[in-house]
Formats: sequence, structure tokens, C-alpha cells
Amino acid sequence: MSYDPGYMNTAVCTSRITFIDGEKGILRYRGYPIEQLASKSSFMETAFLLLYGELPSEAQLKHFCARVYHHQTALHADIVALLQTIRHDAHCMTSVISALAAMSALHPEANPALEGQAVYSSRKTRESQMFTLLGAFPTLAAHVLLRRSGSSVPCLPAPSLSTLLDPARPRAYVEYFLLLLGLGKARPGEEGPDPRVVRALDVILLAHADHELNCSTAALRHLTSSGVDVYTAVAGATGALYGPLHGGATEAVLRMLQQIGTEERIPAFLEAVKAKEAKLMGFGHRVYKNYDPRAVLVREVAYEVFQVYGADPLIHVATALETAARSDNYFVSRKLYPNIDFYSGLVYKAIGFPLDFFPVLFTMGRMAGWLAHWEELLIGPEEEKKIVRPRQIYLGPAERAFLPIEARGHDGIAAEPERLLPSTTRARL
Ligand code: CMC
Repeated sequence: MSYDPGYMNTAVCTSRITFIDGEKGILRYRGYPIEQLASKSSFMETAFLLLYGELPSEAQLKHFCARVYHHQTALHADIVALLQTIRHDAHCMTSVISALAAMSALHPEANPALEGQAVYSSRKTRESQMFTLLGAFPTLAAHVLLRRSGSSVPCLPAPSLSTLLDPARPRAYVEYFLLLLGLGKARPGEEGPDPRVVRALDVILLAHADHELNCSTAALRHLTSSGVDVYTAVAGATGALYGPLHGGATEAVLRMLQQIGTEERIPAFLEAVKAKEAKLMGFGHRVYKNYDPRAVLVREVAYEVFQVYGADPLIHVATALETAARSDNYFVSRKLYPNIDFYSGLVYKAIGFPLDFFPVLFTMGRMAGWLAHWEELLIGPEEEKKIVRPRQIYLGPAERAFLPIEARGHDGIAAEPERLLPSTTRARL
């Protein structure tokens, strides 16, 4: 056996979706450089590329958008009801993970546990789940956020829905989501989101769409390898993404910038990082040992959004922090550069999203990549469909004889009844 905690040097599959050269800072989806896709494509078109391997024709893209948008217009009443049962002040990712897992109950016909392992051998069934998840997710996310603020989702009249969700408009995916939330307007009172904001969020989703075997995509493949249904697998992947070392970093960066507050406090913060008392969130990457090309894109997008809303003062803290870190030997010698999460939070904040919604936006983009990996695993070579089952090196006691309870002495772990309830529950009681 090889011993490789964190899979630092272990390839567990072959893939034709995303190429990263971490030393050179190169990222390509299906061979296309991320910079070209960001400037010339849309999230919907890129999602098609990830899922099907080629850029679509005009007719294909229109058909794809129509299938996705169909699921955007409404969220199943069961999911709406479920969201109402979750505390209004819960972290948004808690609600999202629960809702995604609950979607499994709405699709028994696509559940291998009920229909057998062959259910996903039908391309029609696989596509149907992909359209459902891609389309429902923004509406689910909007419900989560509106539940937080105690508002209900606006009911748009059918004519404006069909104009808006015109399959010939790939950015309608983002526009509709912003419209549901009443966000993205350049000025209060305007009817819909500003096209610059729509484009900005669309580019950000595209930049997040896939990143080969990151923690959450690896989790998605891991879960899929057991034969579980796609909704449960995606809920599990969302759980992995929630962590502050992964997609949760986008929220953690903003909290860090707010905590630093002013440029004068940067040196003291960096000293704490070097003393390992704090972490410079939004910096460092397992694969990139160079500038994350997505961070370049997101920084550009941030300045475009600032043209609409004015610059957030924290951008000065962020740029000064980047400059200071990149001229400090601690970060230089470890090849630590800004990653995609370093600037994205400033864009989300400018648009008006609350901090704990930031990882939901990461999830919205990554959904396309997860589904591409799901499809790739399901239709891929048989030898790669092994259930993921790593091995361990056992370091526990050797065989020993069972001791009756009266013969055990008092060296065991003392029970502490007051600790049996989680601290949050105790606080709420
Ligand atoms: N701040 C301070 N030191 C760092 C940081 C950081 N952000 N990242 C890495 N290091 C140090 C680390 O302490 C270690 O130092 P030493 O050699 O003295 O022990 C060295 O750099 C190597 O780091 P590592 O933790 O072994 O690297 P890793 O590949 O295991 O971890 C990482 C990668 C992304 C988890 C880590 O860089 C990190 O925690 N970054 C901050 C969280 C973050 O921004 N995450 C988003 C990642 S990009 C978006 C996504 O895909 O999720």
C-alpha cells in the first residue's frame, strides 16, 4: 500500500474535462483556456462544454438552455416547505445541503436504491437529472436567501417569464436569479439587474464551473462510486465545498478582510500568519504554485462591478494585503498566491449578497463540473467504476481480552452529562 494522506500524489481516475498546469498557472476546460471562455462564452455555454465535451451549435445551446430554464421557474412545494423548517438564521449552506438531499425524494424513478443500479445507464435519465439540478439550483438558492430575510419569492407573471427565460439568451440563467432576489440593479427603482452585473456573475460562475479533482468533486466521485443517487452525491459534495479550506474560503476571506479593517493592520496580521496563529484565507492552493488564473479573472470582474456600485473600501485592504504577502519570503518561498476566493467575496458583497451566501454562489458554478464528472464516471471505463475504498495503516492496540465492567477500574473517560448537548442547543435552551 502507499501512504498518502490528503492524496498529495495519488491519481484516482482519468479525466478529459479539465486540465491544470499548477506551475504555470494554466487552466483549460476541455482544452479551451479559461480566459477565452470568460471573455467569449457564457456560463450556460461552458456548462454545455463541460457536460458534452464540445462547444454547442446555436441550436444545441438553445435546446440546452430551454431544458435548464424549464426547471428554473419553480421550486417543488416540498422543498419550499422543507426550507421553512430550518431555522431562519441557519447558515445558508445548511439549508442548501438539506434541500439538495431532499430532492432525492422527488425523483424515485432516478434512484438506484429503488430502481436498480442500471437506472443511470439511460442517457435520457442522466440528462434529466442534470437539467433538473442545473435549473433548480438558482431558484433553490434564491428561496434559501429569501427565507433568511423573511421574504417570499416573487411570483413573476407568465409573459415576463417567457421573455426573460428566452433560451436564446444564455445569460438569462443569471439574470432570472438576480431578478428573483431583486439584486443587481444599478440604482434602486430600476426594473431588472444591470447587464454589467449579470455579466460579472456569469463570468464568476463560469470561472468556478470545474477544477478537476478538488475536494468536493472528489467527494462527488467518491459518493457516486457507491452507487448512490445523484441528489445525495451532490448534497455530499456541497458539504465538502462548505469547508473554509475549500469553497467556504470565499466567505472566510471577507471576514478576514473585515477583521483586518485597515491597511495599517496588515503587518501585524501577516506576523500572526507567519507565527501560524492565523491563516491568510484566499491564498495558497494544492495544485497552483503560481497565480491562480481564476483569481485574475475575478479581480477584473471586481473592478467592473465597482464601476456600477463604487469601490468597496476593503478592496484597498485586499490589494495591499496581496502586495505585502507577495513580497514576503514566507509566502514567496512556499509559492503562495491569491486563489479564486481572494477577490470573489468583494464582488458578491458589492452586489448585495450576505457573507454566508457566498459559498452557495460557488456551489452554483461548481454544479456544472460536478455533473460533468458524474456523467464521466458513469459512462467511463469499467475499471474506474470501482467503489472508492482507501486503505489505512492500523496503529491501535493489538488483540486484547474483554474485561467485565466491574474489573475495569476508573481510568476510562469520565462521563460529563452537561456536555451531552451541543453548545448551540444549550445556548438556545
Ligand atoms: N496562509 C498561511 N500559510 C499557508 C497558507 C495560507 N493560506 N496556505 C498554505 N500555507 C503554508 C502551510 O502552513 C505550509 O507551511 P509549512 O510548510 O510551514 O508547514 C505550506 O504553506 C504548505 O501548505 P499546505 O497546507 O501543506 O498546502 P495544502 O496543499 O495542503 O493546502 C490549501 C492547500 C488551499 C488548503 C491551503 O493553501 C489553505 O488553507 N489556504 C487557505 C484557504 C483557501 O483559501 N482555500 C481556497 C482554495 S482555492 C478554492 C477551492 O478550490 O476551494
